[in-house]
Amino acid sequence: MHLDALNALLTGRHSCRAFRSDRIPRPQIEQIIANAMRVPSWCNAQPWKVVVTCGAETDRFRKALQHEAAHAAPAPDLPFPSGYSGVYQDRRRACGWALNNAVGIEKGDRAASARQMMENYALFGAPHCAILSCPAELGPYGAMDCGGFVTAFALAAQALGVACIPQAAVAAYGPFLHRYFEISDDRLILCAISFGYTDEDHPANAFRTERAALEDVLDWRE
Ligand SMILES: Cc1cc2nc3c(=O)[nH]c(=O)nc-3n(C[C@H](O)[C@H](O)[C@H](O)COP(=O)(O)O)c2cc1C
Repeated sequence: MHLDALNALLTGRHSCRAFRSDRIPRPQIEQIIANAMRVPSWCNAQPWKVVVTCGAETDRFRKALQHEAAHAAPAPDLPFPSGYSGVYQDRRRACGWALNNAVGIEKGDRAASARQMMENYALFGAPHCAILSCPAELGPYGAMDCGGFVTAFALAAQALGVACIPQAAVAAYGPFLHRYFEISDDRLILCAISFGYTDEDHPANAFRTERAALEDVLDWRE
């Protein structure tokens, strides 16, 4: 029974790229974060912290972020991947094409792709955004712990009928985020999670990503 419930959350969840504007009640947001906080972390350090914006504060942030993305060069705290090759490149392309296809962007239409990319900085219309950070001194393992937090956040949200999307694109503007939210420099900003109720009719939400076969992942030895 537990596995069925977990599988329903895992398979029902997807990254939402168009939200309705109505807010999520604060007790539900607190519930999602309390659930996310149950994930394991090395030494139980629990390195995660989140700033959560609501309503008018989200709109102020959205505007400031859009301005920053239009004018400043990306400078993420955590280095972005140096490349995607082989199967990773294939999967990256497939999910990009699936999104473009869903929203009617033709292959090679760079201007339209760039406009869709800029939707990241409009937070896809979400009424809430969480900015996730961890202590710099914990290094990659602190970031790894926080990856678990992101997943549990997404599953708890799904259980409450709340859609979300993790966004590295937002974390690209590290210095701006540190200033804007007064997050000290001894913490790394890892990603944002925009969240709210899904806009079910929006084409950006009309596709689903696939997963590799088990044998591509599992290297069994006995
Ligand atoms: C750490 C992380 C960062 C991500 N950053 C972005 C992003 O900046 N913009 C975006 O549209 N999707 C982003 N995503 C969503 C992924 O593209 C998505 O999880 C992946 O394609 C699998 O699709 P699904 O979440 O719908 O299952 C991110 C996901 C993760 C886990």
